[in-house]
Amino acid sequence: EQKSMEEIVSLCKRRGFVYPASEIYGGINGFWDYGPLGTQLKNNIRDWWWKCMVECPPIGPDGDPVSIVGLDSSIIQNPKTWEASGHVGGFSDPMVDCTESKKRYRADHLVCAVAKAEKGGEVRDLGFLAVMDGDTSVADFEKRAGKLCKKTGGGELLPITHDDLVEYNLLSSDQQTLVWGPDAAQPGTLTEPREFNLMFETFVGAIRNEDAKAYLRPETAQGIFLNYKNVVDTMRVKMPFGIAQIGKSFRNEVTPRNFIFRSREFEQMEMEWFCPPEDSLKWYDFWKNERMKWWESLGINTDNLIFRDHDDDELAHYSKACVDVEYKYPFTAPKYGELEGVAHRGCFDLTQHETHSKTKMQYFDQDLQVRLQKEGLDKEEIKKRTKYIPNVIEPASGLTRAVLVLLCEAFTPDDTRASKVYMKFKPKFAPVKAGIFPLVNKDGMPEIAQNLYMKLREKYTCQYDAKQSIGKRYARMDEAGAPYCFTIDGDTLKDQTVTVRDRDTQEQTRINIDQVEKFMADKMGD
Ligand code: GAP
Repeated sequence: EQKSMEEIVSLCKRRGFVYPASEIYGGINGFWDYGPLGTQLKNNIRDWWWKCMVECPPIGPDGDPVSIVGLDSSIIQNPKTWEASGHVGGFSDPMVDCTESKKRYRADHLVCAVAKAEKGGEVRDLGFLAVMDGDTSVADFEKRAGKLCKKTGGGELLPITHDDLVEYNLLSSDQQTLVWGPDAAQPGTLTEPREFNLMFETFVGAIRNEDAKAYLRPETAQGIFLNYKNVVDTMRVKMPFGIAQIGKSFRNEVTPRNFIFRSREFEQMEMEWFCPPEDSLKWYDFWKNERMKWWESLGINTDNLIFRDHDDDELAHYSKACVDVEYKYPFTAPKYGELEGVAHRGCFDLTQHETHSKTKMQYFDQDLQVRLQKEGLDKEEIKKRTKYIPNVIEPASGLTRAVLVLLCEAFTPDDTRASKVYMKFKPKFAPVKAGIFPLVNKDGMPEIAQNLYMKLREKYTCQYDAKQSIGKRYARMDEAGAPYCFTIDGDTLKDQTVTVRDRDTQEQTRINIDQVEKFMADKMGD
């Protein structure tokens, strides 16, 4: 069943997952606030990533646990960082301005309508057309494309002259932006594409001139490269090893859209894996597979996840390979959209920082030296291979994008229940693990329920709720995605049992109040 983005966004607002930022002032495009439930969900994903990457990282291909350390670097760094990384010169999108609507669009999201020789035998290139904004789904696209084909009587997009345009809608190459429609303006109202740097600028100190200019980081990765040498010198790490970081990143996206999918302020979870160049492809394969396993561990249906290997012409010049983990979002379905990138970055970043900072980044690999000596290699060959600038494999994902995926995945329409929808989070990631209710606010029920709540909240995020009818309280918990509710009722007073309601089956059973903690421990997997 196709899930509706509008309904997901509406539930997020209604139940306190995600609010538009500065809503009382009319909002600010591309920024979002995470409400009480959204914050908890985000923290649960964040903590699980940290646990799986830093505290209990996986067993490597050679049978040993891999070693990864954590980092929390500054959001603002010396601006030379971004010259070395290539962001000052190259981190930009081609952009066009619509002179009529005064809106800005990413040029690579537009289609170039190329007229073919169908009408009058003349080939005409209309170039960029005027644009219309909109979060148009692929289903919409197909409907519109179908209409267009029918109209022109063929399987392809046929010639379009200005006179024909009123009936046509064209979409961008990524099939998400509506670029032509009935209300579109005359062709030729777009400026020429120009490069637009995505970094947010600010000034450090009291004087606002070029020398004081600094940037909000557009990725967490560079903070890791800047500290590579510090970590090697202070932490007894040996190659191969990783440095992981979670934190905010900022990009002045030209067209932020699809709810929190592409925002201007977001959170990333990135790990840079440093390894000998000769082992880099082995580690690339390893991390590629580990990352997919990790996404599956969040309870995401495997049918909704795919790998998409980058074509050679998509790769940066320094990169040997890159793969995206993609998810079938409601706004991309039946296609998939990016969730995480796993990139082989070669020795590009450390070499750049070595050149720009004049700090030596070379590593002498003693373990490799011993291995190669045992293999009987000659001295010169060993010397050549054991002194190197490490290669980097980078699994880079968006934490806020992971929140979106779990929200989409959990959203389950169900006409049989009062709320008509419930959030089927895997219990480990549910922002509320249990609701605790007194059936009525008398006969000592609230006191018993409060006691249970006080005990359970030590271990699990719980909500105590004594308001409204029990049905409404269950409905509220269904929308929050709480896997279990415990109700203290008349029978509790007699036989010390409570009602347990299961979110997914809606079944109600009774267990002894003393067993609630053990019940939760069993269900939450600890
Ligand atoms: N260090 C490499 C890097 O930053 P990226 O593909 O630009 O690579 C990695 O970003 C991940 O960060 C993406 O796969 C996505 O999940 C997330 N991300 C990037 N831009 C984003 C945005 N504007 N809003 C939300 N998430 C974003």
